[in-house]
Amino acid sequence: MERIYTFDTTLRDGEQSPGASMSIEQKNEMAIQLAHLGVDIIEAGFPVSSPHQFKACQLIAQNVKDPAIAALARAVEKDITIAADAVSKAVHPRIHTFIASSAIHMEYKLKKDPDTVIEMAVKAVTLARNLLPEVEFSPEDATRSELSFLCRLVEAVIDAGATIINIPDTVGYAVPEEFGTFIRNIMNGVNNMDKAIISVHCHNDLGLAVANTLSAINNGARQVEVTINGIGERAGNASLEELVMALHVRKDILPYTTKVNSRQIFNTSRLLSNIIGFPIPRNKPIVGDNAFAHESGIHQDGVLKFRETYEIMTPESVGREASNIVLGRHSGMHGFKKRLTELGLKVNKEEMGKLYQRFLDLSDRKKEVYDQDLFALVSVELGRQYATYALTYFNIISGNVSVPTATVRIETQGEVKEEAATGDGPIDAVFNAIDRVTGIQTKLDEYIVHAVTPGRQAMGEVSVQLTIDGKTAIGRGSSTDIIEASAQAYVNALNRYEAVLNS
Ligand code: KIV
Ligand code: ZN
Repeated sequence: MERIYTFDTTLRDGEQSPGASMSIEQKNEMAIQLAHLGVDIIEAGFPVSSPHQFKACQLIAQNVKDPAIAALARAVEKDITIAADAVSKAVHPRIHTFIASSAIHMEYKLKKDPDTVIEMAVKAVTLARNLLPEVEFSPEDATRSELSFLCRLVEAVIDAGATIINIPDTVGYAVPEEFGTFIRNIMNGVNNMDKAIISVHCHNDLGLAVANTLSAINNGARQVEVTINGIGERAGNASLEELVMALHVRKDILPYTTKVNSRQIFNTSRLLSNIIGFPIPRNKPIVGDNAFAHESGIHQDGVLKFRETYEIMTPESVGREASNIVLGRHSGMHGFKKRLTELGLKVNKEEMGKLYQRFLDLSDRKKEVYDQDLFALVSVELGRQYATYALTYFNIISGNVSVPTATVRIETQGEVKEEAATGDGPIDAVFNAIDRVTGIQTKLDEYIVHAVTPGRQAMGEVSVQLTIDGKTAIGRGSSTDIIEASAQAYVNALNRYEAVLNS
């Protein structure tokens, strides 16, 4: 079994997904969980891009001891010195510097000729190596670069001290066999390749990121750049959970291991989804609600007779306990706390008190409280931490002959404000009334509602995506009343905007 190093870029490339911005504390919380999951390297951010990014990298470098902590830097002096400064307190700091190597990027974006690009890359790696012991270099858009130029560039940066060469499929253009051959050709075409390891960083524009990564491993790559839930620029990056489980399930033909504790996968995926407010698609491999659900009678019958007839891995192996535990009002604080801990839902003492109260309210409205309800409750409660606005009251008048009208009361910075508005329907009216209170111009790009559990008493979970000032803000809310869930989701998106995007 050969060891594959997992480089998690959820906090850098992942955070580049529209709407996935995290506060400094949220990034730190995520980094602690990634360390618990067992990744080898955490790319904590792009420090030169903002003081927020710098501080997040600094905090993670100070707090998270086991994985190496990497910071991204363009191949320019300012980026590199700032990146080195941001992660210098880490036990294993790393600078990840990059410059584009494809003709199209060099000509139109950088406006530099190939020799200048090599010069800049060598200068950047030399500087980085003078500041920190470990340097990773990426030729951006490598898969659309000319092979002989790429090999020349890679050889030069290895000579300058880079020990990790990351080959990004920046635009998700490669297909598996071609990408594997490309990696093999780089390994064979670079004279000093024995002084560095090859990493790959695949984007998912054609849905091939994990397949391309596996093909690269088979051809010599030993570091993989991945994200939780596959989040990342555009269609995202190779998903950590899919890659790790592919290696695990198919070890018969993929003789490679990682240090990832697969039983932490589900908790990590949920934590990220709660933090950034992105719901996990039901059919998402490994972590989606349906990933282990068997619907057809033939499948159910097969699984009951012998699980492996239709299951290639167990839910337990990715940390999804097969549970039929249902809580209710009589479960008490102890039972409630115990179940949250079993589900890996971490909340502090203060949040616990508020959450328990919400749990009691919910169990009054809905007799049986399932795990999915608890995930939704915690997600909403964590969202309240960033509360510039708190919805304390709403009232709706609606019907098939009346004009839908909403009144809302919102607490903001110690002041209580009340407004009323009409709309095309009760949800539009409530959003209009909230807009009147906040004075923020929003555009609603997406509105999704789904029932968290089966049955007519189920909680509805609402997810909204807004554009505010050209930035994407995502919010989530849940309640047995979908108008309340919608109002919560809308306020949650505004709070995220205030706390992260507008900071
Ligand atoms: O996709 C890409 O090329 C990147 C690089 C910065 C590695 O994210
Ligand atoms: Zn990328």
